Amino acid sequence: MSMLPFDDREGRIWFDGELLPWREAKVHVLTHALHYASCVFEGERAYGGRIFKMTEHHERLHKSARVLGFEIPYSVAEIDAASEEVMADNGIVDGYVRPVAWRGSEMMGVSAQNTKIHLAVAAWEWPAYFSPEARLKGIRMTVSQWKRPAPDTAPTDSKAAGLYMICTLSKHAAEAKGYSDALMLDYRGRIAEATGANIFLVQGGVLHTPVPDCFLDGITRRTVIALAKERGYEVVERPIMPEELAKTEEVFLTGTAVEVTPVSEIDGYRFTPGEITEELMTAYETVVRQTQDKAASAA
Ligand SMILES: Cc1ncc(COP(=O)(O)O)c(C=O)c1O
Repeated sequence: MSMLPFDDREGRIWFDGELLPWREAKVHVLTHALHYASCVFEGERAYGGRIFKMTEHHERLHKSARVLGFEIPYSVAEIDAASEEVMADNGIVDGYVRPVAWRGSEMMGVSAQNTKIHLAVAAWEWPAYFSPEARLKGIRMTVSQWKRPAPDTAPTDSKAAGLYMICTLSKHAAEAKGYSDALMLDYRGRIAEATGANIFLVQGGVLHTPVPDCFLDGITRRTVIALAKERGYEVVERPIMPEELAKTEEVFLTGTAVEVTPVSEIDGYRFTPGEITEELMTAYETVVRQTQDKAASAA
């Protein structure tokens, strides 16, 4: 991946309705979002010039903002158009799209009723780096000390910046121990998700995934559930305790960034990325490159 810093690149970023030169898309240090995490965002991927499930991402962005108590002053259709404009303007074919909405600088305190709501959309190139064969080796994970909070402790059904505080801490702790990512349990001790992806377990040919009642119900998660069901697999959404890893054959993560990524180990429990993971990796790769109409009917 390019080591160019994200604030020092060529191109343009859509910012409150205008395309600004990349280096000028800035916020002031006294911005409410920076101090109080009044910020929501999306992560989207474009394949062959088309953003996969674009409208679903922008509907989720709107919902995330409402959960944090603010309304984005651009419609879903306008965010769709802005994202396509940014893609075209920067000549992105295979890339990542990052819309972000936040409270501005009009008030600086816990109360922020009269802050202006801003929206920016940036996009950058992000080609596929690893072949399916390389990815099939799987990643190693370790269980985090941080727990996903209860829905009455934090706004867990929002893709809110503040919820990522424990993800960064978990990911850094995992990396310091030589793992690629962390598995986060929830406030009840159940398996929840990774730091930026959902998780699936394969037990006896059946797919099991936790109920997303205190963490993000990923768009990739829903896509993969539909793809698995279409292929005749049973998918069970239920509470899953970490002890069950002992009787699990395959584990994989799903997310916009990781797509379908096999897991080879979680703290000594070992898994062999097998047939089902491979089939769903391939199915996902196919569906993201279909036209939107076909993709919509497939998932
Ligand atoms: C914490 C977390 N969980 C799950 C996901 C997967 O969501 P999606 O498939 O919509 O990208 C993401 C990625 O956006 C995430 O950040």
